[in-house]
Amino acid sequence: MSRIQSVTADQIYDSRGRATVEAEVTLDSGAHARAGAPSGASTGAHEVAAFPKGGVPAALTAIRQWLAPALVGLDAGDQGSVDATIHAIDGTPDLSRVGGNSATAISVAVAMAFGVERGEPLWKVLARPGVDGRRFPAIVGNCLNGGRHAIGGPDIQEFIAYATDADPARSVRAALRVHTLLGEQLHLRYPTAALGRGDEGGWVAAIGNVEALELLTNACAQARDELHIPVHPGLDLAASEFYEAGNYRYHDRTLDTEGQISFVTELVDEYGIRFLEDPLDQEAFEPFAVLTRAVGDRTLVVGDDLYVTNESRLRRGIDLSSTNAVLIKVNQVGTLTDTLRTVDLAASKGLATVSSHRSGEVPESWLTHVAVGTGARGLKCGLLGGERMAKLNELLRLGRATGSTVHAR
Ligand code: PGA
Ligand code: ZN
Repeated sequence: MSRIQSVTADQIYDSRGRATVEAEVTLDSGAHARAGAPSGASTGAHEVAAFPKGGVPAALTAIRQWLAPALVGLDAGDQGSVDATIHAIDGTPDLSRVGGNSATAISVAVAMAFGVERGEPLWKVLARPGVDGRRFPAIVGNCLNGGRHAIGGPDIQEFIAYATDADPARSVRAALRVHTLLGEQLHLRYPTAALGRGDEGGWVAAIGNVEALELLTNACAQARDELHIPVHPGLDLAASEFYEAGNYRYHDRTLDTEGQISFVTELVDEYGIRFLEDPLDQEAFEPFAVLTRAVGDRTLVVGDDLYVTNESRLRRGIDLSSTNAVLIKVNQVGTLTDTLRTVDLAASKGLATVSSHRSGEVPESWLTHVAVGTGARGLKCGLLGGERMAKLNELLRLGRATGSTVHAR
């Protein structure tokens, strides 16, 4: 047994400069590991609470006073019991007593410490049946930021390069090239405008949604021509953020649900979108199904705020055929066990999973191991900035360590 000797926690800062929680777990063997938890800005209404009332100081008190004493002595190899104990101590349905970020930091640090003791990388500790570490996710790389991740940008939150080469090094290269080319195109079109970068490292420019998509599509085409690597446009609309009383309110148009479905369908066809996240409101399970019937044969339709990595919400989406893919964010649901339950449900029903960062990230790479260990179709981790690059570089390392065996999707 890999007995947990101690669990400690402290405050660190995320990439937006906001406070979050880091946990450190030490086993009797001396093996130890640290993990920090990220935070979102466009959080789904059904996510667990990131922090208890009182914020990070209250989370640290909860870890020190309640969680640590209950976890000491447990077997780090029994992730299910560790995570069940976190839930039992918390006692609320949304982890609001200890905070979802406390749960995430501890849960991940326990799995990592167990891996250290066994001399195994985290992906192997998490590996689902059939995963051998030689199949790598596509890169879902945010190239232009809007919505809540950028002041003064488009309404649509993310304009994405979706690079699907089987070799992760080639996918990373193509996605980064799209980012660069898009910056050049923005500068060419608006030579005197200031160009900034948003929360996830994508460009920020005062342009409209369709214009941004047009430039992204050109940049993808140019990168494909240059590099001969499959890379296509994608969007995360984060549509709940501009949905209000039955309407989708853009700066230049207001659409009802039917109008939104037609608008998005047209965008998919006109621009060859292959990755489409949260195109509708977080409660719109049935409209999602209508859209997926229309475009699901040519693009991933991904539920993020719709499912919040929650098993029962995903079950509802599966019953209604709402989407063909689900975004996976550990701290939306709390622990690794909760996360893996949702991943396993998706896999059993043939839905793709995409492991995702948050807009406020920690400069760590455990997310990459979640993606590889769960056999994710995609790794969504942004493209620029140390906290995003940490994850991409880790993917390159894993690719070099094992070598990929599958061909482009
Ligand atoms: P968040 O957004 O991390 O700010 O919630 C990311 C996303 O919507 O995918
Ligand atoms: Zn999203």
